[in-house]
Amino acid sequence: MKTQVVIIGGGPSGLLLSQLLHRRGIESIVLERKTKDYVLGRIRAGVLETGLVQLMEQAGCATRMHAEGFIHSGTQISYGTDIFRIDFAAHTGSNVMVYGQTEVTRDLYAAREQAGGAIEFDAQDVAIHDAKSDRPYVSYRQGGRPHRIDCDFIAGCDGFHGISRQSIPLDVRREYEKIYPFGWLGILSETPPVNHELIYSASDRGFALCSMRNEKLSRYYIQCSLSDKPEDWTDAAFWQELIRRIPESFAANLVTGPSIEKSIAPLRSFVTEPMQWGRLFLCGDAAHIVPPTGAKGLNTAASDVHYLFSGLTEFYETGARAGIDAYSGKALARVWKAERFSWWFSSLMHRYPDQSDFDRKIQTAELEYLRNSAAAQKVMAENYVGLPY
Ligand code: FAD
Ligand code: DHB
Repeated sequence: MKTQVVIIGGGPSGLLLSQLLHRRGIESIVLERKTKDYVLGRIRAGVLETGLVQLMEQAGCATRMHAEGFIHSGTQISYGTDIFRIDFAAHTGSNVMVYGQTEVTRDLYAAREQAGGAIEFDAQDVAIHDAKSDRPYVSYRQGGRPHRIDCDFIAGCDGFHGISRQSIPLDVRREYEKIYPFGWLGILSETPPVNHELIYSASDRGFALCSMRNEKLSRYYIQCSLSDKPEDWTDAAFWQELIRRIPESFAANLVTGPSIEKSIAPLRSFVTEPMQWGRLFLCGDAAHIVPPTGAKGLNTAASDVHYLFSGLTEFYETGARAGIDAYSGKALARVWKAERFSWWFSSLMHRYPDQSDFDRKIQTAELEYLRNSAAAQKVMAENYVGLPY
């Protein structure tokens, strides 16, 4: 087989890139290790920056998102007994869209299928060959049979546990990592959200987040211990702990119900450099991870896709290599700012097991500063809605 771009990974990064390229007449084949149902079964991000919304529009996949998504022009932050609002619209003139990653991915799959796009599911033993040459190729097995695809470029969109990053030799690759001493226990429940805006709560018992997918579907998270397992937490125990961590005025209105999904995610900051090696480009979680606080994971994946898509279209339409050659530098410059914001917001909102009284006082001082300073709120808002591409 032969194509222009082989895309490894059929998550949001890979699908978005494939659909954008298709709209400019550039051919790609997506190789996904799992099944479509498996990919759509993962409950992940819920907040989209304007940049991602615009990319979905450019991809021709935004109709349902605009009909069913919710514009949020601010968020609530609470600590102790205090609660305040950060007004994104007033500080930045911008806002965010609440629309789940599952729905983004579903819309992208629908568009690829409608266009007859090639997506190979259950692709096993995917391997990258000759990425430093002008004739790279990708091999894989499907249903026990070996396959080979020759191509011009390879996009590694295969997430944190994929093979693309590992294909870059260790003497070229540099990795930066920070592991946080806690996780997030998340549930999805068919209950109305406790509030029309998200609530980020830095309680004495640990962090909590009240989010949503729509008027009937809520998403809640609580900071938990790294040794906890989802099955350790009954629904009743989860609700009880959430109630203790959010302001009383909201807790009184919380509607509880059975969880329809429950999972624990560890918190990690991770960046690999460079994000490009010869004709291989890394996009999204394959190259970097942020802790979820502030919802930057999917949005940072989207900005990578934007830079790579721009570089590839420039190459195919004009022959110029400047865009693809600048990919890693441009993507990393924005990635590190999202890493900084996610690290800062995580550090501000969580209880750390080894935190001293001094550390707690500093955290409270910073929360008070954020509460009372328009300048601090502007910085927070500007990062939350997303820095420009
Ligand atoms: P992925 O979504 O990981 O997709 C990669 C795809 O590649 C997968 O479908 C995988 O099956 C496939 N793949 C892997 N290896 C191979 C291989 N060898 N061959 C072929 N295919 C392969 N972000 C937020 O902004 N907010 C959140 O609340 C949030 N919550 C999260 C919760 C969890 C548990 C996790 C893991 C992440 C969360 N994120 C969140 C991050 C966000 O979901 C990711 O940033 C986003 O999914 C990145 O998209 P991606 O396409 O780069 O990677
Ligand atoms: C969601 C997740 C986040 O990490 C966040 O900061 C906001 C919302 C969510 O899943 O809804």
